[in-house]
Amino acid sequence: MRSLIERLPKVELHLHIEGTLEPSLMLELAERNQVPLPYKNLAEVKAAYQFEDLQSFLDLYYLGASVLVTEADFYELMMQYLTKASQDHIVHCEVMFDPQTHLARGIGFEIFMPGFQRAIADAEQKFGISTYLIMCFLRDLPEAEAIDTLLLAAPFKDQITAIGLDSAEMGHPPSKFQRAFAEAAREGYQLVAHAGEEGGPEMIKDALDTLKVVRIDHGVQCIQDSDLRLRLAQARVPLTVCPLSNIKLCVFADMAAHPLLSLLSQGLNVTVNSDDPAYFGGYLVDNFWAVYQAHHFTEEQFRQLLDNAIKSSFLPDARKKQLIDQIW
Ligand code: ADE
Ligand code: ZN
Repeated sequence: MRSLIERLPKVELHLHIEGTLEPSLMLELAERNQVPLPYKNLAEVKAAYQFEDLQSFLDLYYLGASVLVTEADFYELMMQYLTKASQDHIVHCEVMFDPQTHLARGIGFEIFMPGFQRAIADAEQKFGISTYLIMCFLRDLPEAEAIDTLLLAAPFKDQITAIGLDSAEMGHPPSKFQRAFAEAAREGYQLVAHAGEEGGPEMIKDALDTLKVVRIDHGVQCIQDSDLRLRLAQARVPLTVCPLSNIKLCVFADMAAHPLLSLLSQGLNVTVNSDDPAYFGGYLVDNFWAVYQAHHFTEEQFRQLLDNAIKSSFLPDARKKQLIDQIW
């Protein structure tokens, strides 16, 4: 099974580029850009990665992102991830980024977008991997700042496929961003949102009904609501589930308690993703492998998970069909 997981072409739909910042690159960039960090070496960075919930992770994640300063830094970050992804036979990915984390430090779209774009073009040429960008609003900040961010992104609109919503979920329901998402829809962006990671099923319903998103990131708290599960299954709403993330952030006690396979068996459109692999101890293959070790899914179930991700992507239908033909 390990070699099948490695070998088959895969699509990743839930990956934060700032969450691919490996400790080694973090220390190198901190030194190069003279950004102070509370860590002296790799061992100290890794020792800090013990999280008790989403917020305890986000504090370190935003601190880590502070070492990203120049266009070259953003290029290197994206290129490092796309190289690793290609080695793992990921053929298409939809990568999230958090502009507000960078804007707050005076680093604008004119710095990070060219860095991302250059790496995406180089990786496509070198490895054949395709990459779409999802620009996320930070939900713990005011909606007005999300709308400002949408305006700043306008010159780069052709390079951004979708708008997403991430950061601290508790106390920040999707409906807080109703106007920002309505405006994004008018501008032609696809819409996704994190919901039901730590927050309850009502967050998922709010994202679907108020924001009109076409995909839910995480969504695992639908386990608490059988009517919602039925609705999600009937509408084939994609859930971009991140198993290792859920364990690291204590959403579930251990992988044996993770509901991915149960949701798949109930007909939900679940996919497997890595979220923030540099912080959670594994990339996409590691996520599949960790789930396999706990649940021993069949080859058929594995292919179904890949099929779900291809069909739930924003790729054109012809490309989806090509990829589906390769996995069955
Ligand atoms: N930002 C990066 N990773 C995240 C996650 N798992 N949930 C919410 N916001 C995030
Ligand atoms: Zn996420």
